[in-house]
Amino acid sequence: MPDQECTEQGSTLITGIGELVTNDGDRGGFAAMTDAALVIAEGKVAWAGPASRAPAADAVVDAAGRAVLPGFADSHAHLVFAGERSAEFAARMAGRPYRAGGILVTVEATRAASDAVLRANLRRLAAEMLRQGTTTFECKSGYGLTVPDEARGLALAAEVTAEVTYLGAHVVPPEFAADPAGYVDLVCGPMLDACAPSARWVDVFCEDGAFGADEAAAILAAGRAAGLGARVHANQLGPGPGARVAAEAGAASADHCTFLTDADVDALVSAQVVATLLPGAEFGTRQPFPDARRLLNAGATVALATDCNPGSSFTSSMPFCVALAVREMGMTTEEAVWAATAGGARALRRTDIGHLSAGARGDLILLDAPSHAYLAYRPGVPQVAAVWQAGRMVAGTGSLAARA
Ligand code: NIG
Ligand code: FE
Repeated sequence: MPDQECTEQGSTLITGIGELVTNDGDRGGFAAMTDAALVIAEGKVAWAGPASRAPAADAVVDAAGRAVLPGFADSHAHLVFAGERSAEFAARMAGRPYRAGGILVTVEATRAASDAVLRANLRRLAAEMLRQGTTTFECKSGYGLTVPDEARGLALAAEVTAEVTYLGAHVVPPEFAADPAGYVDLVCGPMLDACAPSARWVDVFCEDGAFGADEAAAILAAGRAAGLGARVHANQLGPGPGARVAAEAGAASADHCTFLTDADVDALVSAQVVATLLPGAEFGTRQPFPDARRLLNAGATVALATDCNPGSSFTSSMPFCVALAVREMGMTTEEAVWAATAGGARALRRTDIGHLSAGARGDLILLDAPSHAYLAYRPGVPQVAAVWQAGRMVAGTGSLAARA
């Protein structure tokens, strides 16, 4: 049997960890220890504690003073699409405002693409995410907008992640321009029937130019009746009902949250809806960044995600989002790293990821840096040295693992 396989099946001790981010504090926030070690066995974290007390394992990795973090949980991404919109981005940077209409350019390209093209694009982006430390990602449909195109988008997404989201309600497609109510009926009826078996979540883009409050509430209710959990694209482009709709629907997360009233913030806090902030979208549309500090001060749970999509935010990089959140959104380095790991887990209602307590999934990152702060301190620099997913080293140098 090749050595690599023995290593993967046996236990691995990672020792010499300068900073181990565990997120296992009593109060649920960021938690870390120095001079630490961690054992992974059978796909899970078996032990974490001071390096001086580490148990033996089948293989040993010396972190040499570097930091280990939970893998990133990217709870918002649109990865099933064809084509690209760099010209639209360049035009925006030359002064044209972002409009949701650009979505239809991608819808046309996606409908015309073969399964093979969509699958190759999706897998390329998923691999790109993994190399950058994302061990769990959510993936939405929303560029098909017909029954067969949405159903195939979700079936493709389900090949690469368990966190699959039905976003038939992304925008009203051109063939329903004169009958938006008819499109909502389709989304709540035959399209949902075809999509629900592949999905865990239902999402709606609740915004001027997309879907209004009543339509969004109806779509979320239909999704929930089909067994799907709710999430909402809320208050991205301007003030509006999205956050309130998310709170009333008991959504796991309201995403974007760029334009919130005080009442919106209160509604998210009291309904315990995670506020998922997507700074890549503000970067890519030159909009004001959401005010994470205000949400945190009000007691909201904040997550960070990429919103990776070909229009508003074509980044797959959680480190980039962490850096933006720290520099532009009033988050401390600890808060931003928590939001990108444990926060994403909360937004997906997952308790097995986002932390490195014993029993957690063996999803972790070795940084080529002594502390989590370097993610924001050295923006744009690739610093993910190795990635383990469910206990297997899936990115980085295999030579790190030495036989014990
Ligand atoms: O999250 N807001 C709606 N959907 C995407 C944009 C998608 C696109 O421009 O293609 C978003 O920003
Ligand atoms: Fe989005």
